[in-house]
Amino acid sequence: ESPKMNTEEKLEKICHLLNQEIPYFNWVGFYFKNGEKDELVLGPYVGAPTDHTVIPYGRGICGQVAVSGQTLLVPDVRAEDNYLACSIETKAELVVPIFRNGKNIGQIDIDSHSINPFTEEDRHLMEWLCDKLSEIL
Ligand code: SME
Repeated sequence: ESPKMNTEEKLEKICHLLNQEIPYFNWVGFYFKNGEKDELVLGPYVGAPTDHTVIPYGRGICGQVAVSGQTLLVPDVRAEDNYLACSIETKAELVVPIFRNGKNIGQIDIDSHSINPFTEEDRHLMEWLCDKLSEIL
């Protein structure tokens, strides 16, 4: 199975796995930089469809991480001014950047229907994953 899996399928599988195994990971998806443009484009994801398939750098939680290159853990999205609502169910968000050759090329975005669900362990697991992902991207 795995030798035939392309990158897209691997990312899809990761989304499914995380969504299945961690009950409060209710939407899991990838965004990637759109070529030379300063915008993110939605990649593989699992969860409710979103209107935000293209996000300019700086906009929302994702856009902020695209600019800063730093993990953003938002325990309660109601407290955020710069936030793009994908679903009224979303209460918290965790966005971790993905680097290749030192360049911020994208991110994993996790939405939760619970308030303050994410642990330091979640954050470290996602940072570890994104570090590993640079090897296949
Ligand atoms: N909430 C994100 C937008 C992406 S959706 O959550 C899938 C943001 O504020 O950037």
